[in-house]
Amino acid sequence: MQNILKNSTLSLALAGSLLTAACNQNASKSTATMTDSTSSTTAAATLPAASGFEKTIDGKQTHYFLLSNKNGLKAAVTDYGAHLVGLLVPDKTGKLTDVVLGFDDISGFQKAKSAYYGATIGRYGNRIANGKFKLDGKEYTLFKNNGPNTLHGGKDGFDSKVWDARQIDSSSVELTYTSKDMEEGFPGNLKVKVVYTLTDDNGIKITYEATTDKNTVVNLTNHTYFNLNGAGSGTNQDHIVQIAADGYTPVDSTLIPTGKIEPVKGTPFDFTNATSIGSRIGNDDQQLKFGKGYDHNYVLNKHDMNTPIATVVGDKSGIQMQVFTEEPGLQFYTGNFMDGSNTLFGGKKDEHRTAFAMETQHFPDSPNQPNFPTTVLKPGAVYKTQTIYKFSVK
Ligand code: GLA
Repeated sequence: MQNILKNSTLSLALAGSLLTAACNQNASKSTATMTDSTSSTTAAATLPAASGFEKTIDGKQTHYFLLSNKNGLKAAVTDYGAHLVGLLVPDKTGKLTDVVLGFDDISGFQKAKSAYYGATIGRYGNRIANGKFKLDGKEYTLFKNNGPNTLHGGKDGFDSKVWDARQIDSSSVELTYTSKDMEEGFPGNLKVKVVYTLTDDNGIKITYEATTDKNTVVNLTNHTYFNLNGAGSGTNQDHIVQIAADGYTPVDSTLIPTGKIEPVKGTPFDFTNATSIGSRIGNDDQQLKFGKGYDHNYVLNKHDMNTPIATVVGDKSGIQMQVFTEEPGLQFYTGNFMDGSNTLFGGKKDEHRTAFAMETQHFPDSPNQPNFPTTVLKPGAVYKTQTIYKFSVK
């Protein structure tokens, strides 16, 4: 657990020994009215209306929260699955653009459940092999919702729970959820708190906290899909990506890590220099075949919140997103399973590879991988981590 509390210790171990992998170590407004000073022709971006998020689910009332900062950025969050519903940031002409994929209402998110658009993921983000893990000598069995494996918490992860929520101020909302002992097969009553804040330097900051009353495993993340040219604006392939990771965790055909940490150098996984998503995605490479594109965990060189672990630029909008995190890993997913079967807010379909996710996290399958940083949380310890997606223009 110390590793979770003090992620910086992990980065040192990981950076130093990639190959040896010795790292044993109330909102009210429904739409945002945009004033567009530079372009009078294009329709101003809006956020989905609040009414689509004010429902009763599992006997609980759900809500919609509108966040804003002093620069006019706006975000919408719902307590259903603690989803980020929309995010308006200015492009290079100053026009506000919704850079995250979302839906008109909760039923849109429910229909697209298996894609996890905008969701808060728990109790365990990413895959656990064969739906099983051992903790303190006892085997726990989980629901297999992804071929032979458990993905993103199992059958009904935190993404489909109604959280308790309170708006802290105009830029920030706090969401809490208690996951009962043995919910989805995980031991311990886990109390979770997630706070979304729209910062005055144009970031969306997500902080996570959790405590437990029994030893358990925890790996929380956010599964927002970004298109920096605007949600529904087309392909992600020309987005320019840089990831500060010299290594990644290769996977088997079911996307479970082999346990090795391999260097990215000389492979299509090397994003240490800014490169478009599409330039090598079609390479004849077994890992790309297994992922049907990029769907891999990067081992971050540093994760101390001081330097971005990833930078992405929308080729058309000039919108730049920098990612900061305390987590040791980043799942870079290029929307390979998107297939146009869902209608997004704004009316466009979620076509193949028209968005990407950058899920900051501990490594996949860590409960079964002794060489990966631990994801065990014990009573008395506090799981605490944060990630910021920060926006500017290029
Ligand atoms: C994660 C997984 C992907 C995929 C998406 C949802 O990113 O790694 O394989 O399951 O969630 O479609």
